[in-house]
Amino acid sequence: MEFYQNCTDGPDIMKCEFITKLVWHIRVFDIFSKMITELWIKGNCVTQMLSKETLNKYRHLLKWKNNETILEFGAAHGNTSVKSVLPALPKDYKEYILSDISPDMVNHMKNNLNIPRSKIIQHDIATERLQNEFTNKFDHIFGIHVMHMVPNPRQAFININKMLKPGGQVFISFAERLPMDHAFHNLLKYPKWSRYGHMLTPHYYSVNVEE
Ligand SMILES: C[S@@+](CC[C@H](N)C(=O)[O-])C[C@H]1O[C@@H](n2cnc3c(N)ncnc32)[C@H](O)[C@@H]1O
Repeated sequence: MEFYQNCTDGPDIMKCEFITKLVWHIRVFDIFSKMITELWIKGNCVTQMLSKETLNKYRHLLKWKNNETILEFGAAHGNTSVKSVLPALPKDYKEYILSDISPDMVNHMKNNLNIPRSKIIQHDIATERLQNEFTNKFDHIFGIHVMHMVPNPRQAFININKMLKPGGQVFISFAERLPMDHAFHNLLKYPKWSRYGHMLTPHYYSVNVEE
C-alpha cells in the first residue's frame, strides 16, 4: 500500500516494487473477478495458514449434534476444506456440501476430492433466487475467506440466515481490510487499470464493516 501511494501516475505504476504483489493478485483473477483455479492453487499458502489458525482458535465455540448437514461455501479447490474444515467436523456428519461460484473450482473439486458423504455444487451464496431446497437445510455453514469477495454481502447473509436450521451455527472469516484494497481504489482512477477496480472489497468505503 505504501509503495503504491508513492507512485506517480499511469504507466509509472510499473516502477513500483508493489506491482509484483499486485500483478500476482490480478493474475489470480480474470477480468470478470473469477479466480483462476491453477494460479489460486499455486499461490494460496498464506490463506491456508490463516484458515487453519482461525479454525483451531475458534473451533471450541462450535456445538455439534448427531447427523448434521453442513455447507461450506466458496470452498475453491477444496484444500482448506480437507486440511482445516474437515478435521473440525464430527465424524458422524450426514452430509458435507462444498460449493463455489466458479465452475472451474467446482470441476477441480469434483475431479480431486474424495470426502466422505460430500456433495460438490456450483452455487452463488449471494443469489437473489435461493432454491427452496436450501431453506432450513444446514446445521452448520462455513465460509472461509469468501465474504470480502462477494459484491452483495448483505444478500449473502440473508441467504445464510434462510439456509440455516433453527439453532444452527455459522462460521465465517473474511478480511475486513485487504492490503490490496487501497491499490484497487487508486486503480479506478486510471482508464487503463480501472477494470481491476471492481476487485475492491465491497465494504472498503464502509466506516463500520459490521453494518
Ligand atoms: C479467497 S478464495 C477462498 C477459498 C477457500 N475458502 C480457502 O479459504 O482456501 C474465495 C473463493 O470464493 C469463491 N466465491 C466468490 N464469490 C462467491 C459467491 N458469491 N458464492 C460462492 N463462492 C464464491 C471464489 O470463486 C473462490 O473460490
